[in-house]
Amino acid sequence: MPPIKSVRGVRDILPADLPLWNAAEDAGAQVARRFGYEEIRTPLLEHSELIERVGEDTDAVAKELYRFDDRGGRNLALRPEATAGVVRAYFEGLLNQGPQPSRLYLFGAMFRYDRPQKGRYRQFFQFNVEAIGSAAAGLDAEVIELAYGWLVDVGLADLRLELNSIGDGKCRPAYLEKLRAYYRPLKSQLHGDCQLRLETNPLRLLDCKVPQCQPFKAGAPRITDFLCDECAAHWAAVRRLLDAASIEYQHNPYLVRGLDYYTRTVFEFYPGGATGQQDALASGGRYDGLAEAEGWPSTPGVGFAGGLDRVTELMAAKRGEAPLRPPADVLVLPDGDLAVEASEVARICRTARSVAVDYEPKSLRAKMRSANKLGARWVVLLSAEDAARRVAQLREMTTGEQTEVPWDELPARITSA
Ligand code: HAM
Repeated sequence: MPPIKSVRGVRDILPADLPLWNAAEDAGAQVARRFGYEEIRTPLLEHSELIERVGEDTDAVAKELYRFDDRGGRNLALRPEATAGVVRAYFEGLLNQGPQPSRLYLFGAMFRYDRPQKGRYRQFFQFNVEAIGSAAAGLDAEVIELAYGWLVDVGLADLRLELNSIGDGKCRPAYLEKLRAYYRPLKSQLHGDCQLRLETNPLRLLDCKVPQCQPFKAGAPRITDFLCDECAAHWAAVRRLLDAASIEYQHNPYLVRGLDYYTRTVFEFYPGGATGQQDALASGGRYDGLAEAEGWPSTPGVGFAGGLDRVTELMAAKRGEAPLRPPADVLVLPDGDLAVEASEVARICRTARSVAVDYEPKSLRAKMRSANKLGARWVVLLSAEDAARRVAQLREMTTGEQTEVPWDELPARITSA
């Protein structure tokens, strides 16, 4: 029988990669806390209906949702993104009754049944930041500054920030009519999906990547030319705040984002030099209509999610081959059948350092060879004679220096070094 392999599009994160993941997550949590954000964890399972409210025309919902009936007949989904769940938790957990805005961050797995490729997985991990309960432009700039600070802290300072405003329920409908009017005469020249989008979700015509649709974009009306007074003031305020924070951005009038819940500000961070939707390292925007779409009182919010898979891949590429970090500082090598004694020595040493024991029935020479491979800083050699006197030979691997040390003095010797 062939061995059972992992599910397509789903990966293991192996010990060698985990230092990068931990670094990316620690940096995210630290930046978020510096900005006064608190951690929240929401379930991986939500009612499909909650996710569908995010937008039926959204790919992540329409085509890519992991949806199933549980044993009780409830229609559930593995979350494709976290914002809908965080907004739900904000109301269910009564955070709406606390000080506003509620500043929240979350790490976790998301699931999308997309075609897997490098940087795009069916289970992937996000760092989410959400500020819920305020419409102030200051918060749009704040979450962008937070995202920027995080990416810089993990060593990815070479970035391109794209920014746009897609208006709100007041000004967008009139703009969409203008967009439809522009595209209708061109309909037969658009690719199949875009022909459908023309009536159902015309904004998505702007971020279509299919070559045959590209020539028409330049002549399309730009939403930032048709914002209502409030949206225009918000757009100007966000840009002013980013300028004041010395955060460079490019206005991309075609940036509309893949989820339907956005209003006003939308943004995406790309690695400097890269192009294309699938390379965004972090992206987000304002979602003032989302709470109401979920059936809660109308409440504004803004946030972003960073893709940890992509960020760690880029960190790895930047750092090159990471130096081998030994899993334990100290390796105890009993010479012969001394498991009880060796584990006691390990227990004593563990008060000071990380310690592993080689329990294999091998010769001391063979054990020394594995110790060299492992890269431990010290080896504690233990013979039956030494054990009887409660001493051991402590060997510093880099210098080869070896001294006899009573067991109880081992912690001090490996701490001070
Ligand atoms: P999103 O653009 O769908 O937005 O995803 C955010 C980030 O998650 C992307 O920029 C990318 O780095 C990463 N990502 C998305 N799909 C995949 C995938 N299949 N494999 C690997 N990484 C992926 C959202 O999810 C919104 N909820 C962001 C947000 C928060 N907006 C407001 N608050």
